[in-house]
Amino acid sequence: MGWGQPHVPVQYVSMKSKSTKAWAGRFTAVADPRMEAFTSSLAFDRRLARYDIQGSVAHCKMLVKQKLLSRAEGQKILTGLKNVERELERDRFPFLASDEDIHMAIERRLTQKIGALGGKLHTARSRNDQVLLDVRLFVRDEIAAIGKLLSRLQKRLARVAKRHRAVVLPGYTHLQRAQPVLLAHHLLAYHEMFSRDAERLQQCGERVNVLPLGAGALAGTTLPIDRAYVARLLGFAQVSENSLDTVADRDFVVEFLSSGAILGMHLSRLSEELVLWSSSEFGFIDLPEAFSTGSSMMPQKKNPDVPEIIRGKTGRLYGNLFALLTVLKGLPLTYNRDLQEDKEPLFDTVDTLKGILTVLEPMLGQLRFRTERLTEAALGGFMLATDVADYLVEKKMPFRQAHSIVGAVVQWCVVEGKELHQLTLQDWQQFSPLFEADLLPRLSLEAAVERRQSYGGTAQKNVERQLRSAGV
Ligand code: ARG
Repeated sequence: MGWGQPHVPVQYVSMKSKSTKAWAGRFTAVADPRMEAFTSSLAFDRRLARYDIQGSVAHCKMLVKQKLLSRAEGQKILTGLKNVERELERDRFPFLASDEDIHMAIERRLTQKIGALGGKLHTARSRNDQVLLDVRLFVRDEIAAIGKLLSRLQKRLARVAKRHRAVVLPGYTHLQRAQPVLLAHHLLAYHEMFSRDAERLQQCGERVNVLPLGAGALAGTTLPIDRAYVARLLGFAQVSENSLDTVADRDFVVEFLSSGAILGMHLSRLSEELVLWSSSEFGFIDLPEAFSTGSSMMPQKKNPDVPEIIRGKTGRLYGNLFALLTVLKGLPLTYNRDLQEDKEPLFDTVDTLKGILTVLEPMLGQLRFRTERLTEAALGGFMLATDVADYLVEKKMPFRQAHSIVGAVVQWCVVEGKELHQLTLQDWQQFSPLFEADLLPRLSLEAAVERRQSYGGTAQKNVERQLRSAGV
């Protein structure tokens, strides 16, 4: 609510006089309302309102410090901005279709409130650097907010992993049972992906945190501004170096969208496993009823709509990245109005990621693993075949030969309808005299997992180390 969130209807009023436009001095004709409707970004960029005020407050303080405004003028403008801010917060701000964008709307309202002095706020500033300031402040905040949600999801994953640290399930390649792994190891794989996502977002945040204001329309300004002071006021770590690059650059948005697309891809892969695992064919998990839906026709259904929608949302996350990359390709320096198209993809990615992270975390918390089904699946599929080959290797047999012998054992088992752990020592010795009694105790899931001690493998001690570094 407030703060110019979308879906608040814009009050469309007809333009009676050309004098309401900031550039009216140059024009003789009145703006066509169809042109206004088409070019306006107000419907979406009003979301930047709080950042526009925040930036204007800092800009005004700098103008006073540099004596471009008197102390009294500065005070009046700051009070006016406070007033406008309150209107925005309470959803009382009178938006006009003729405002074009949030920057013009706020300046227009300020001028209505404090008179012609409002027109001094735009001294040494262009909307071209102003819009970037707003977007950078917005992205900086949203990176922090998404980072928080992501770390909550990671904590949840780690807790679920810890709770199931002794449960074994089949690890898959080609979606065929491959080797047994700990469920905790499997879940912590996603924890790793999300750690990289968090790191990517944080590194993107460093490049976001550069002050663009002061670049002017494109070439800087003739007026004696103090950019470092504005940077200090707004907590920017750096001041941008080249005014042309500054107003034309949207790399930080591309990076954010790209990090969002990669994060979305990870979320989608996790979701796909939840969909698969909740099917009767796998039966590995029970999705919580509170996070499932039924069918309007088939009474027996409990559908995994949440992970399916998460998987589906990957489409828009990729689309947003490509939309902006396409907007930017071929744009000559510097500012071009095409750049206004950066905002909707940005906002959509922010909302999509926050929506996903908000629902996935509690859903994972209520997920029930059907551990008996996991164990049963892990016992089938000859998953200890590699372990038997490794056993022969320990007895100095070349791995290729060992592979071929165990392959023959598996083939025999398929014909006989047996699993490896059901064979007797006599059965084994038909295939090689190297098989001895010490083989049999190795053919348990626990032993197989425990032997994978190589750093990063699925052995318990590695998993415990991962859990510790995940902070659970
Ligand atoms: N609404 C514009 C945008 O989002 C603000 C900058 C407009 N600058 C201009 N020269 N028309 O990019």
